[in-house]
Amino acid sequence: MEVRLNKFLSEAGVTSRRKAEKLILSGKVKVNGKVVTELGTKIDPEKDVVEVEGKVVKPQRKRYIILNKPCCFLTQLGKSQDGRRTIEELIRDIPERVFPVGRLDYNTEGLLLLTNDGELANRVLHPRYKLPKVYLALVEGRVSPKTLKLMKRGTELEDGFAKPDDVRVVRYEGKDTLLEITFHEGRKHIVKRYLASFGHRVKRLKRVALGPIKLGKLSPGKWRELNRGELAQLFKAVGLKYPPKR
Ligand code: URA
Repeated sequence: MEVRLNKFLSEAGVTSRRKAEKLILSGKVKVNGKVVTELGTKIDPEKDVVEVEGKVVKPQRKRYIILNKPCCFLTQLGKSQDGRRTIEELIRDIPERVFPVGRLDYNTEGLLLLTNDGELANRVLHPRYKLPKVYLALVEGRVSPKTLKLMKRGTELEDGFAKPDDVRVVRYEGKDTLLEITFHEGRKHIVKRYLASFGHRVKRLKRVALGPIKLGKLSPGKWRELNRGELAQLFKAVGLKYPPKR
């Protein structure tokens, strides 16, 4: 199947799609020995030989990984500007150029999906597929049955109405409450803002599931490959077939 040259270069881990266009325009990319500067060029990854600055580019195998992000790591690749640690150092042993699908806050822990499959990533993030994200939230104060009822109904936040798919008390921990809360939307700081609007500040937040994928017993700071069964479920949840015909 033919793909656009810039898409091939980004999926092969050479660079981002936009920077790949610049590479093409600057005459550094050859297809079957000939310099190509036409941005719309399509190639067949099975047949055509692509070179960047004299080096042959091979298609990357698709990787689908979950990381148990610990507290106090930024969800970004590369170095941060302010010296805070980033998840990059936790995934150094993955040779492919995987990128995080969505974000967790600096101090949020738990399940982060990483992949080099742009199509899957787009769908996981797309509101149309309503993938539920399940969080454990340790909040200040004891959540009363009355407040819990109100939490289930939804409320107006400064950027519009928000309503969790589900919220329940897991247990009380001294003066605090451990809640399990599920949202399918991905607005910034949604869980913290939602719970704070009921007067319960989040002290600790951990994502434990993303659609059919569960964090399970993966240790903080560790990653693992998703297995075929998990991938089949995840692909199905976003309307794709597994294994992908790409
Ligand atoms: N909601 C938050 O408030 N923070 C996260 O990291 C994820 C969801």
